[in-house]
Amino acid sequence: MSEAIEFDEKEAAETERSYLTPDIAATRAVVMELLAPGPGERVLDVGSGPGMLLRDIAGAVGPSGLAAGLDISESMLAIARHRCRDLGNVEIMAGDATALPWPDAHFDRAVSTQVYEYVSDLGLAFAELNRVLKPGGRAVIMATDADTILFNSTNDATTSRIREAWPRHCAHPFLPRELGRLLGESGFELVGRKAHVIVNHEFNRENFGWHVARAMSVYAAKQGAIAKEDGMAWIAGLRELDATGAFFFSVNRYLFLTQKCQS
Ligand SMILES: C[S@@+](CC[C@H](N)C(=O)[O-])C[C@H]1O[C@@H](n2cnc3c(N)ncnc32)[C@H](O)[C@@H]1O
Repeated sequence: MSEAIEFDEKEAAETERSYLTPDIAATRAVVMELLAPGPGERVLDVGSGPGMLLRDIAGAVGPSGLAAGLDISESMLAIARHRCRDLGNVEIMAGDATALPWPDAHFDRAVSTQVYEYVSDLGLAFAELNRVLKPGGRAVIMATDADTILFNSTNDATTSRIREAWPRHCAHPFLPRELGRLLGESGFELVGRKAHVIVNHEFNRENFGWHVARAMSVYAAKQGAIAKEDGMAWIAGLRELDATGAFFFSVNRYLFLTQKCQS
């Protein structure tokens, strides 16, 4: 059985739902602040997923600018194209982060959130990102370290098995630890770093932690790390904690602001 998560129709729809939560809307605001796209600029979103960030970028660059998205998943592309159907300054392409379908020095800025974790050949992907940026062009890359995902639970043994299985869902589950070095080796200068923490004290669909709990327990059961019933009991335990005010979820996002070296 494949270990990597595939963004098929079901997974893309689940991801879209989780990215509509206020937690992820707030995270996008942090990304936009660091990216700071200006009117008339051409901005690339690598792995644009359901397209919420593309909409934000399109608003910031205005009618004379361009928000360009690229994704490898047909299901994600369909969601993003639908979400951005009324915007004339959005272009959405199918493709792989390791082979960007744009000419050299095409973009003023670029962004990629929660994507490079899934890309095996990061040397190739960052070389491509560097190629399509103008000299001095800035890129914001955001990634999560799987070890920062925390749940209070009623069954610590199941929590451990779920947390141990989860890093297998992508190629680079601990990417933030090496991202600065990798970008430096790919012709980028680090301009700034930021950490953004998502914390939930309630367990319901409006909170990102609800979606993470679902995704991680379903994945662990599919991988045989826990029985399906144990996953359901674990979720029931989180609901019990919620009822007594003892639910806790937290995850860290790490943002890297980089600039393409001039020479
Ligand atoms: C966790 S989602 C993040 C989506 C979006 N960046 C966001 O934050 O809303 C990961 C996205 O990366 C895309 N992806 C994974 N591997 C990719 C690759 N090699 N090239 C392009 N996109 C890729 C997936 O299809 C998916 O849309």
